[in-house]
This record gives sequence, C-alpha cells and structure tokens, in this order.
Amino acid sequence: MASPGTLRIEGLTKRFQALTALEDVDLALESGEALGLIGPNGSGKTTLFNLISGVYPPSAGRISFNGNDITGDPAHRISRRSIGRTFQNLRLFPRMTVYENVRAARHAGAPALSQLWVGRAARRVERDAVMDRLAEVGLADRAEDLAAELPLAGQRRLELARALAAKPTLLLLDEPAGGMTPAETDHMAEIIATHAMPGRSVIVVEHKLDMLSRLCNRLCVLNFGRKIAEGTADAVLRNPDVLEAYLGTEDEQDRHAPVD
Ligand SMILES: Nc1ncnc2c1ncn2[C@@H]1O[C@H](COP(=O)(O)OP(=O)(O)O)[C@@H](O)[C@H]1O
Ligand SMILES: [Mg+2]
Repeated sequence: MASPGTLRIEGLTKRFQALTALEDVDLALESGEALGLIGPNGSGKTTLFNLISGVYPPSAGRISFNGNDITGDPAHRISRRSIGRTFQNLRLFPRMTVYENVRAARHAGAPALSQLWVGRAARRVERDAVMDRLAEVGLADRAEDLAAELPLAGQRRLELARALAAKPTLLLLDEPAGGMTPAETDHMAEIIATHAMPGRSVIVVEHKLDMLSRLCNRLCVLNFGRKIAEGTADAVLRNPDVLEAYLGTEDEQDRHAPVD
C-alpha cells in the first residue's frame, strides 16, 4: 500500500460544455510533501481541487489516493478518505459561532454515531479538540463570536481550523491568504507551516509567491487548464513560459470571479 497522503493524477481533464477547464494534467504528490499550485485566474486551479475533492467527476483521467482509485467518487466519500480542503469563497456557517463552526467540521466525514456520544468525558474531549484547533489559528478568544463577525482574515483562519478539525492526511488550500494584508499573510503562512503541514501532504493555491516559496519546495503552474511548468520555485519562476503566462495579469490577480 502507498504511504498515507500519496496522490497520483493522470491525464485529468474537465470540460464544462465547450470550455475545457483542465486538460490532460498529470501530477504526483508524495506523502508529507507540500506543493504550490499557481497560474493566472481561470487557469483551472480550483477546478483541480474540485475534481480531487469530488465536487465534480472528471471528464477524463484518473485520480488515486493512497494507492486507491478515487476517480469520480462523490465528495462525502472522498472526505471520509481524509482528504480535506478550504474554499476560495469561504464555506462557513455565518450565523453559528466560531466554536460551532469547528465542532460541526469535526463530524463532517464521520459516522453519525459519533454525534450520539454525549457522555461528559466525551464532551470534554471534544471541547478540548475544538479549542486546540482554534488556538492553532489564533481564534481561541473569539470562540463565542458569530463567524460572520470575524474580519476576512479571521474567517480564512476559521476555514483552515475547520479543515484541520477533520484530520485530513491530504489538505488542499485554495488561496488561504486571498484578500489579506501583508501582515495577515505572514501570520497565515506561519500558521500553515506550524499547524497544517506537519504530518500531512498539502497543495496550496496562492497568488502570493513569497508565501508559496516559503511553504513549498515544488511549484506546479497551470495556464488555460494545462500544466506548463513544474519544479523548484526558483526554476519555475524563471521559466519563460511561466513569465509569459503571467505577463500583464498582475493587477488582475485579486480581482477575479472565482467559481468553486
Ligand atoms: N462549474 C463550472 N461551470 C462552468 N465553468 C466553470 C465551472 N467551474 C469553473 N469553470 C471555468 O473553468 C475555468 C477554470 O476556472 P477555475 O478552476 O475556477 O480557475 P482558477 O481557480 O485557476 O482561477 C474558468 O474559465 C471558469 O470560468
Ligand atoms: Mg480559483
């Protein structure tokens, strides 16, 4: 059996009517590896996450995780295989507290029985686990606030805490620092390095290349749905095809209309 967190993608293609959002993409992620995924807006990054996490079935190609073929499996089955993700457009429960948001995520992929487990000791274990996740993302003191009351940076950190609460062995982070100030971005990078990466495989989509080069030793670049480069951050960011793909797109990078 493959090591936990091993991902293999071959010939992955996704068409939406006439539009090919992803075309013939191969990708391999080893256990415990951190990969950065970049590309101009609309290049297929979120679509790749949607295919891995089972939001859509692919039009062609194969995905295997830990040596098992998961191609076309629905999202609930994939999350039970301990693949977790965050969403570029956050998926929080705005009218629930910060605490309740993380608690709900703990049981997302688990059998319903765990929710009937209401002994006092069990409740304490649960409370400690939720508070640990909140402490990791710097939100312990906001536990009783509504999620909607957090600023954007706090909501992104809550989204990460929710993903971590489900204990994924593969974690997909979709623009975890999107819309953040430089200081908030540094804080997020620190949280990811300290609490999200150890012991799991991670793919990070981000436009903030400083952050990515700090977190990931390998980058993969998509352009118009195709993989155009892959390698160390230094090599990839000097690749002429990559420079050309990014030319003139810089000021569009925070002004996109993402589709999850
Ligand atoms: N559900 C969908 N239906 C139709 N088109 C989609 C859908 N999801 C994504 N697309 C299109 O696929 C392309 C890639 O989108 P996306 O994966 O969101 O890019 P990125 O995350 O790199 O910005 C875009 O042209 C986008 O409009
Ligand atoms: Mg996207």
